Amino acid sequence: MGVILDGKKLADNIIEELRTASLKLTKKPKLAVIIVGDNPASQIYVRNKQKTAQYIGFDSLVISLENNVSEDSILEHIYILNEDKDINAILLQLPINEKFNKKRIIEAIEPIKDVDGFTSYNFGRLALGYEPFSYPCTPKGIIRLLEEYNISLEGKKAIVIGRSNIVGKPMALMLQQKNATVICANSYTKNLKELSYMADIVISAVGKPKFIDSSFIKENAVIIDVGINRVNDKLTGDVDFESVKDKASFITPVPKGVGPMTIAMLMENTLNLYNIQSRLIL
Ligand code: GUN
Repeated sequence: MGVILDGKKLADNIIEELRTASLKLTKKPKLAVIIVGDNPASQIYVRNKQKTAQYIGFDSLVISLENNVSEDSILEHIYILNEDKDINAILLQLPINEKFNKKRIIEAIEPIKDVDGFTSYNFGRLALGYEPFSYPCTPKGIIRLLEEYNISLEGKKAIVIGRSNIVGKPMALMLQQKNATVICANSYTKNLKELSYMADIVISAVGKPKFIDSSFIKENAVIIDVGINRVNDKLTGDVDFESVKDKASFITPVPKGVGPMTIAMLMENTLNLYNIQSRLIL
């Protein structure tokens, strides 16, 4: 059986370190989260983010808006948060209803308060290999988890299945930055099994329960499961854990794998933005 990549344990350690660091600050870092609509999963995520922020000793503000809110009103909230000197980090919880112009809303966030790294300024810098103000939380958490277990990326073949702006796209860029050779796959990819079988590292972010079984992976591959699928009220990843666990050298569980790392990185990004902004006003 492969080694379990314990995201929960690492995330808990990072959160404790952030808590220690935060207690020494005279002013508290403050994270603002905007949630639009009543997606139950999003509501749970936002509550977790808020709880974790409070545990660390950050201030947090949640702005809950109904789906019938106007786009201008969402933008207005963002403009106010951009101007508010007490707010260090702004997060727009995704997904939001299709009727909204997501691009326009994300771009309204000041890059220096963009805690997800989703604005074109930060994402563009990431793509160019320059330091952004924030790296997207999920890929950053995955890189950190691989580093924790001394899994090197240099010269490795990695396949990223899924090309979302939240996970797949920034993940592929960050792996390339670490000198991995990256295959970017999506739902149109032909011969996915063959491609995946070539990879030393398989990262799945497709949202299909038990999509990846042992026929997709070679012996000793590293498997990172970003899927969070609710099946009969139970969380299930994209990976059929039982099928691949003996073939994989390392594997993330669901839950307690990538998910907790995402939250820990969000908190780290919040403190990082706070530090950057404090330096600017000195
Ligand atoms: N929805 C799922 N993951 C994320 C994330 O990392 N950031 C935001 N803003 N929304 C998400």
